[in-house]
Amino acid sequence: MHYELAIIVPTKNEAGNVRQLLGLLDAALGGIRWEVIFVDDDSADGTASIVREMSAERDNVLCLRRIGRQGLSSAVIEGMMATGADFIAVMDADLQHDEKLLPSMFRTLQDKDIDVVVASRFMDGSECNNFSRFRERLSNAGIFLSRLVTRSRLTDPLSGFFILRRSVAEEVAPRLNGQGFKILLDIFASASRPLRHRELPFTFRQRQSGESKLGALVSLEFVLLLADKLCGRLVPFRFLTFLLVGFSGLVVHLALLGLFYKILQQPFYTAQAASTFIAMTSNFFLNNRLTYHDRRLRGRKLLMGLLVFYIVCGFGAWGNFQLAQFLYDRKIMWWLAGLIGAAVSSVWNYGVNNSFTWSREK
Ligand code: GDD
Ligand code: MN
Repeated sequence: MHYELAIIVPTKNEAGNVRQLLGLLDAALGGIRWEVIFVDDDSADGTASIVREMSAERDNVLCLRRIGRQGLSSAVIEGMMATGADFIAVMDADLQHDEKLLPSMFRTLQDKDIDVVVASRFMDGSECNNFSRFRERLSNAGIFLSRLVTRSRLTDPLSGFFILRRSVAEEVAPRLNGQGFKILLDIFASASRPLRHRELPFTFRQRQSGESKLGALVSLEFVLLLADKLCGRLVPFRFLTFLLVGFSGLVVHLALLGLFYKILQQPFYTAQAASTFIAMTSNFFLNNRLTYHDRRLRGRKLLMGLLVFYIVCGFGAWGNFQLAQFLYDRKIMWWLAGLIGAAVSSVWNYGVNNSFTWSREK
């Protein structure tokens, strides 16, 4: 069977929603040859086994279960690459996206001059009165910045509900960032030419079952993705996050040094050692949550990772010190010597931790 339309649905703990969604798709998509691909990141609530049951009952339901992987964007990319349909739609599993809009999105895309059709929450005719103030502000700031990188005037570049040609998906896939959740923005920013698009308004419904996975880290992730796209691909995305975490460690370090040395009147050496240790520890946990949230270490591996991290960063600090001293002795300005030492050790810390502490294989 050749399908005209594939609907990619990323799922993380959506056991209470997937069956209902399938029923809604059936009701909405009469007359179109469609399949739905659920990409599940090994949900603990048994989402994948419910999808398996559904795909045993019929041909046009597929379950792609990913083990040891996380992330909305990469789930969507892999789902898109798994279909042979000419048109690909992406939507959430939680029933917040109005499936009744799919046929008109599909029809609009039949026009040869359009690459992508986006369902927007923020254009005339849209309604999303159930949005929290925070989410609304985040989205407004985001919209402004993202126009720069998407080369478009999309009212909702953060939408998770859109449809595109498979040829476009195939073309941009190798360049997509794959981290985080801003897949639509990433597609627009990664295309070799401005994408021809149209937006349709819809009403963003309230989530019925389960909970939202996009918390406060989302805004940071978003800023980093924009930075990544603006810098071109000169600097790897993870390295930027790693540096940002490193910078936060510096702040922690100096604050604690002040506390131990000035306020608690500890000897400088002790104060310095204690604050280095704590800053390193906080860097480790932040990196584990942010930089490597898709390879997050848990349990015993977390403890091992922490030890390796201490050792790697210990060497990094030692190298930093040696190099800076070497340069300083050769009459290089003190701040330049310090800067070069720090830069080299950051690259070392990143490179080695990237391949050992948070190595890809599980
Ligand atoms: N496979 C996979 N892996 N799916 C995930 C993951 C993940 O790590 N995280 C979330 N999902 C799935 C959810 O199960 C849901 O189907 C969909 O992705 C959206 O997640 P929600 O947690 O419901 O997101 P939201 O409603 O808070 O956010 C909405 O607005 C964002 C922009 O502001 C969604 O429409 C997002 O798609 C959109 O980017
Ligand atoms: Mn949702």
